[in-house]
Amino acid sequence: MAGSTNFFLFLLTLSVLYLASTFPEPGPPIKTTNLVVYVHDHFTGPDATAITVAGRQNPTTVDAAAPASFNILRFGTIAVVDDPVTEGPTTESKEIGRAQGAYINSQFDGKGLYLVFSVIFTGGEFAGSTLEIQGSDIFAMKEREFGIVSGTGFFRFVKGYGIMETAFMDVANLRAIIKLNVTVKHY
Ligand SMILES: *[C@@H]1O[C@H](CO)[C@@H](O)[C@H](O)[C@H]1NC(C)=O
Repeated sequence: MAGSTNFFLFLLTLSVLYLASTFPEPGPPIKTTNLVVYVHDHFTGPDATAITVAGRQNPTTVDAAAPASFNILRFGTIAVVDDPVTEGPTTESKEIGRAQGAYINSQFDGKGLYLVFSVIFTGGEFAGSTLEIQGSDIFAMKEREFGIVSGTGFFRFVKGYGIMETAFMDVANLRAIIKLNVTVKHY
């Protein structure tokens, strides 16, 4: 009798140990952060920080918007940017970082860009951290969703999405202010 009770307790202990090993330890809690910033994307003017570096030139038409360069509104053009990132939608608003990377016009009719850039925070509560942004920008749409693929500093292990809206646009001079509304999950 005593022997079978001991054997039962032994089996029970084994079962409890097995169950304990199959439930993973809880990891650190996942946080959600939302932030809204504005990117000043100017291809012309004294404060221009975006340049086109490669593309397909149109041999027959003179391009009024960008006479001596590749036009970002044409399929195949590649632009490199180091755009100011501000807290608010105006040029006077406090700069809190830079958007550095490239845009490629990757839609055959010229109406879509492929974006790949870092938002490098230099001021505000996220100074020293970065977000890596990648995705398509069909810029005539009011709201475009893009992916946040990774980050550094405060944003290590980040994943998320953002919604992009054109806050200001001067097509003739290729000057735009873009609102980025970013929602990310991270530890
Ligand atoms: C940002 O986007 C979220 C949805 O992801 C929305 O609920 C929120 O109102 C937006 N905030 C601003 C300031 O546009």
